Amino acid sequence: MALVGSKLRYLLVIYAAFSAIQYGLRYKSYDVSPKQFKTVAGKAAASPTSKQALSTLLVGMRSHYEPILPRSVEWHAIQLGSLSIRIFPIYTAFTEYAAAFSAPFATSGRAGLHWANSTCTVLSGQVGRISDDTQGDAKETFTQGNNFRHGQFESYVYQLEKDTLVACYGRGFLPLSSTAHITAGISAGEPLSVVRFYLAQAGNYYTQIAQSVQRVFQHYKARASGEL
Ligand SMILES: *[C@@H]1O[C@H](CO)[C@@H](O)[C@H](O)[C@H]1NC(C)=O
Repeated sequence: MALVGSKLRYLLVIYAAFSAIQYGLRYKSYDVSPKQFKTVAGKAAASPTSKQALSTLLVGMRSHYEPILPRSVEWHAIQLGSLSIRIFPIYTAFTEYAAAFSAPFATSGRAGLHWANSTCTVLSGQVGRISDDTQGDAKETFTQGNNFRHGQFESYVYQLEKDTLVACYGRGFLPLSSTAHITAGISAGEPLSVVRFYLAQAGNYYTQIAQSVQRVFQHYKARASGEL
């Protein structure tokens, strides 16, 4: 009886945490507009080479979101489920991200289950996928300029062709995705590349926090001097 009671309490705590996060995600404000990201990514997809596509994406994002973006962005190794790909993290926060993913060689595997809705644009190459939830073999294929959505808690097997570059923006509870990323990285024998990635992101969080503190400060300064 005591055991059942404590298990129930455990479940209730998990449920309460889930609901609280869900509520928070619905009502919080986000920094990046999905529509604007799609427009920028669409422009990038029209570039003749993937190198130009990436720089168009970065320049486009900077033109809208300069203050919150890291000063320099580099490629990082990332293991997503069984996909060995590279990530170019343009913007990473606890509840939203904008990034490019690249597969220099053909690779396939599950990208994992995430508590986040992501919308992606293929900048070059080709993405094929099949949902784990649908019965039968409804394969989808996306080529340059196509968009696809990976909704929260959805699971797909992906196939990325050689030299595929994809731009994604997503919102959700990203610390959970980090758990998947970290365990996949470690099990692939790559703990150091995981550490390198999070050290870089920690630097970005610091910039973002400093930026919001600055904004609040400017706001009160302006108010104190009667400009507001
Ligand atoms: C993801 O999309 C679904 C359906 O549009 C929505 O109900 C849910 O709140 C979204 N989740 C997040 C984390 O934004």
